[in-house]
Amino acid sequence: MPIVLKGPEEIALMRQAGRAVAEVLGILRQEIRPGLMLKRLDEVVRREFAKRKVVPTFLDYQGYPARVCVSVNDEIVHGIPNSRILQEGDIVSLDLGATHRGFVGDAAITVAVGRISPEAERLVRVTEEALWEGIRAAKAGVRLGQISAAIQAHAEGNGFSVVREYVGHGVGRSMHEEPQVPNFGLPDRGLLLQKGMTLALEPMVTAGDWKTEKDPDGWTVRTADGSLAAHFEHTIAIIEGGAEVLTLP
Ligand code: MF3
Ligand code: CO
Repeated sequence: MPIVLKGPEEIALMRQAGRAVAEVLGILRQEIRPGLMLKRLDEVVRREFAKRKVVPTFLDYQGYPARVCVSVNDEIVHGIPNSRILQEGDIVSLDLGATHRGFVGDAAITVAVGRISPEAERLVRVTEEALWEGIRAAKAGVRLGQISAAIQAHAEGNGFSVVREYVGHGVGRSMHEEPQVPNFGLPDRGLLLQKGMTLALEPMVTAGDWKTEKDPDGWTVRTADGSLAAHFEHTIAIIEGGAEVLTLP
């Protein structure tokens, strides 16, 4: 599958999808507190997406059973919002996708539940910073590896690891388009970025080793060594002069 370039009209539709994702992630963030049952978050997404007339991209994707991925502590990505109750000191990653008139926005945040340890706080902060380092590196004429290397350098420079087995991706007319966007690699490798490319950058960073394991539920991905993980994601478009973040409120 070749890379699908987008024109201004298509990017405008992705901006609308992305805005809905960002707004609803902001609402979900407000819901996060000790005592919250995870599946409550899926109900909030159903209600808020209906209001905004956007479609949940994840629901039924390869059989995924919910509208949002909710991953707690050592869970990295693709956690299913179930009857688990959040506790003070947890960190929780929320990953959300919306489709608007056939165009997808995809974003993720990691949120603290009440007071968290200084190490957890540092992991969350460094992971978000790594995402912004990737965004800063993204512009026409540079290689994809510049993004990967920028993310990796920031995470590893702070003593953390980047997950290898899951990566960012092209996004737009479907959730997963070419190319893959690893969070590790050499800066002079990979395709040349050009105007009209739309990408989901999504560093998944762990406090320990980067190796992962999948739960028997077939979805939840966690660190093999039980260490904490954080995940931040934005959908971006390569435009004149740099990258536009499409998943902002
Ligand atoms: N942001 C995730 C991804 O890009 C969301 C996929 S979850 C799924 O892979 F359930 F829809 F698969
Ligand atoms: Co994604």
